[in-house]
Amino acid sequence: MIALLLSIDPTLYAALGLPSENPAQPAPEPQLGQDGSGPLINSTQDFWKGKQGQRNTYPAAKESMRQRMALLITNIKFTTLSDRAGAERDEKNMYKLLVALGYEVVIHTNLTGKEIDATVIEFSKHKKLKETDSVVVVIMSHGKLGAVLGVDWKRDTPKNEEPDEFSIDNIYLHLGPKGCPALLDKPKIILIQACRGDKKGSELVKDGVSSDDASHCAGHEDFEEDGLRFVNSEKDFLALLSCTPNTVSYRHPVLGSLLIRYFVEVVNASAHVDHIDELAIQVQQRFEDSRIKIQMPTKDRVTLTKHFYFFPGI
Ligand SMILES: *[C@@H]1O[C@H](CO)[C@@H](O)[C@H](O)[C@H]1NC(C)=O
Ligand SMILES: *[C@@H]1O[C@H](CO)[C@@H](O)[C@H](O)[C@H]1NC(C)=O
Ligand SMILES: *[C@@H]1O[C@H](CO)[C@@H](O)[C@H](O)[C@H]1NC(C)=O
Repeated sequence: MIALLLSIDPTLYAALGLPSENPAQPAPEPQLGQDGSGPLINSTQDFWKGKQGQRNTYPAAKESMRQRMALLITNIKFTTLSDRAGAERDEKNMYKLLVALGYEVVIHTNLTGKEIDATVIEFSKHKKLKETDSVVVVIMSHGKLGAVLGVDWKRDTPKNEEPDEFSIDNIYLHLGPKGCPALLDKPKIILIQACRGDKKGSELVKDGVSSDDASHCAGHEDFEEDGLRFVNSEKDFLALLSCTPNTVSYRHPVLGSLLIRYFVEVVNASAHVDHIDELAIQVQQRFEDSRIKIQMPTKDRVTLTKHFYFFPGI
C-alpha cells in the first residue's frame, strides 16, 4: 500500500513521512521517450565498411559523403490560402536532421510554383552534385494530386493565367539523367509533405485546398502510367509522399506535420542500421499504429536498384 501511495501521490507520501525503505517499489519504466524521439544514432565503422563494395548497396565513399547536398523548400505564408502553422517547426527539424546526416542544405521559404521550379533547376546544376553520394529533396506546402502549390495559388485562377503550382513530375525531369547527369546512378530521396486531394476531415490542419478543387486533379490521375513510361530514363529515385492519392495530410499547428515528425524520429533511431526502404516502412508503421488512422504515407516511383544507407556519423 505504501508503494502504491508513493506511485499515486509522491507529495502526500513525503508529507506523511512514511518509511523510505519500500520493497515493493516497481522498477522504473524504460524511458522510450513518449513520442519515440531520441538523438541520431551513428553507424559504426564496421557496419559502414561491411556494406562497401556490396553489389546491392549504393556506394558511399567518405569523400563523397562529405559533399552531400540537400534541398529544403517550405511554404508557410500564402496570399489567399491559410498559412501553414507548424511549418516552421518542420523546416527546423528537417534542417537539423539533414545537417546531422552530413548534408549541406540549400534552404528556401515561401516560393511560388515558378520559383520552386527554378530552384530545383538551379539545384540540379550545383557544382557539388558531381561529388555527392546522394541527394535529399524536401518540399512542404499545400498541395493537390500531382502538384504542390505556390504561395500565390488562388482558388479561382482566371482562365488566362496558369495556376501557381509546381508539378511534382518536374522533380524527376530536372534531377533525372537528362536534366542532371551529375546525379546519374546516385540515390535521390524525395520527401513531399502536402495534400494529394481533399478526402476526409479532422480537427488537425490539413495541407490542402478543399472541395471543388478536387476536380483540378483529374488531369494528374495518370501518375502510375507515367511511372511505367519513364522506367528507362528514370532511375535511383525514392519518393515518400505524405499520403495516398486524393487524401489529405495532417499537420499539427505547433508540433508540425506527422510525416516530418515521424520521419525524423525514425531516421534518428534506425538510420545507423537500416536502409531507406526499411526506414520508409517504419514511418508507415508509425501511421498504422497511430491512434489517428487518417493518413498513410506512400512510397512513390521507387526506382532504387540498391539499398541506400545514410551511414550517420561516418
Ligand atoms: C534527432 O537527432 C538530433 C541529433 O542528435 C537531435 O538534435 C534531434 O532533437 C532528434 N530529433 C528527434 C525528434 O528525436
Ligand atoms: C515566410 O513566411 C513566414 C510567415 O509569414 C515568415 O515568418 C518567414 O520569414 C517567411 N520567409 C521568407 C524567407 O520570406
Ligand atoms: C556521431 O558522429 C558525428 C560525426 O562524426 C559526431 O560529431 C557526433 O558526436 C557523433 N555522435 C555520437 C552520439 O557519438
